[in-house]
Amino acid sequence: MPRQLKQLGCDYICCTSGGVSREQKIAAGPNYQVPFADAVRRGADIATMATGQITGARQAEDILQAGQADLVAIARRMMFNPRWSWHAALELGEFVMYPERYRTAHPMMGEVAKFVDMPEYTEALQTLWRANERAADSAAD
Ligand SMILES: Cc1cc2nc3c(=O)[nH]c(=O)nc-3n(C[C@H](O)[C@H](O)[C@H](O)COP(=O)(O)O)c2cc1C
Repeated sequence: MPRQLKQLGCDYICCTSGGVSREQKIAAGPNYQVPFADAVRRGADIATMATGQITGARQAEDILQAGQADLVAIARRMMFNPRWSWHAALELGEFVMYPERYRTAHPMMGEVAKFVDMPEYTEALQTLWRANERAADSAAD
């Protein structure tokens, strides 16, 4: 079926076993559905999204780096922590744009940078934010 979906113009498949019937016997555990994403990706040469007890930033990144999936979906952990992606970006040292009023919520962006042991990172983050702000301002002009 994934091959047919691809032919019909489907861009990617999110590989979940559903969990919508009591009849299902699902062996849950960390990454429990990742093998499905991996198999569909290889078998049908289509992009896949992995999901299933993917809770950590590094865990998610490892799945992508290993080529087991092209995208990762965080379901229940994101319901529990709606700021999951902010925290993951911080953990992986990646930049994400915050709405302006939210920036001082970033642990490195208070009036006094709190992570004094990482001054280069704080400076890089501030530079990036300002550059993005300028780009957004000129786009709005
Ligand atoms: C509230 C909720 C509703 C879900 N509904 C569906 C659904 O309709 N169809 C489906 O295939 N999977 C559904 N799932 C399963 C998810 O797609 C996913 O496979 C599962 O939650 C594992 O990811 P997680 O461990 O990050 O939550 C649902 C999960 C939750 C928590």
